[in-house]
Amino acid sequence: MVSVVPNASLLVYNTFGIDCRARNLAVVECEGDLDELLRNGLLHRGEYIAIGQGSNLVFGEWYDGTVVVMRNKGFQLVGETESSVSVKVAAGEIWDDFVKKSIASGWYGIENLVAIPGTVGAAAVQNIGAYGSESSDVVESVETFDSETGNTVKFLAGECAYGYRNSRFKQSDKGRYVVTSVTFRLSKTFTPQLDYKPIADALGTGSTNASTLADTIECIRWSKLPKPDEMGSAGSFFKNPVVSMGEYEVLKMQYPDMPAHAAHGGYKLAAGWLIEKCGWKGRSLGRCGVYEKQALVLVNRCGCNGNEVRKLAEAIAGDVKQKYGISLEYEAEFVGFEGDRYKKHDGHKR
Ligand code: EPU
Repeated sequence: MVSVVPNASLLVYNTFGIDCRARNLAVVECEGDLDELLRNGLLHRGEYIAIGQGSNLVFGEWYDGTVVVMRNKGFQLVGETESSVSVKVAAGEIWDDFVKKSIASGWYGIENLVAIPGTVGAAAVQNIGAYGSESSDVVESVETFDSETGNTVKFLAGECAYGYRNSRFKQSDKGRYVVTSVTFRLSKTFTPQLDYKPIADALGTGSTNASTLADTIECIRWSKLPKPDEMGSAGSFFKNPVVSMGEYEVLKMQYPDMPAHAAHGGYKLAAGWLIEKCGWKGRSLGRCGVYEKQALVLVNRCGCNGNEVRKLAEAIAGDVKQKYGISLEYEAEFVGFEGDRYKKHDGHKR
């Protein structure tokens, strides 16, 4: 039987370390637990949220619904060819455990995504990415629990509408499908992805193997980003904005040193650079601050609450808009703030 805790603290269920409370908290250890929550009326769309490690969330003071923490476990080899394997991984597995296990098994394609906080299920929703790779590069299919019907619904990768930190599960189907497992296709051949210059520089010219590459990436990662067990944060707080080629031409004339690269039919700019240039790097508002080594990351300076995070995020976005005319979008999601209660999502019916 799934245990449902009323009026529960979410402090240990989010990496920002915000002490929000939820009307109900349910820790799901198998798919049958979701059936039970549905039967008990705890999975109405807009009145529950499924989470992994809560590494991309900012909680307010009170979530007036059920927080469903996915903790189902398991890895299963479900297919194999001469060149690849298909591995089905339960949504509640820790993403980094999966990366390490894959490297140790001689399965490749996710080395660059080493040490990203969060679960496998969240990776499939969020399309996590770093150092030239994205999780959607290796997703074969995503199995879900339909909270409207109780059916299992499987989506092939091509049906998941993957984009930059985006998928159908964050858009039209938000709040409908709970990801229960993800099947990944990994290669038996190691082909290092070295497009990100600091990695190529750190590795030098010799050949490398997957463990060395992952170790190098982990070093680069922790030299710029706070470790979740040392400082509360939600990783990159803002998305890197994409502007049209025309807009970029104008910006480049005004700011010749502005970093950018061609992506998604336009140019992707560096939100961290824009925030730093607005003077926010290392500064704080209340108990929420901008990380000293990476301006894209907002950090908990000690016991901060969701409203302090929101105020800082709005102040930063306002300054970037005023100085550069660019609207920053949040990568982190705000949940449990005044005004969101029972907010229904009007996604289309399948
Ligand atoms: N930059 C600054 N100041 C800063 C931060 C960055 O000028 O404070 C400049 C850098 O000098 C560089 C550019 O911005 O020219 C890009 O910086 P970086 O390579 O560090 O990466 P990012 O664009 O800031 C993205 C992802 C990270 C991911 C890294 C590495 C997003 C929103 N963020 O950050 O993802 O780890 O690339 O691939 O796309 C996450 O999503 O939580 C996350 C950490």
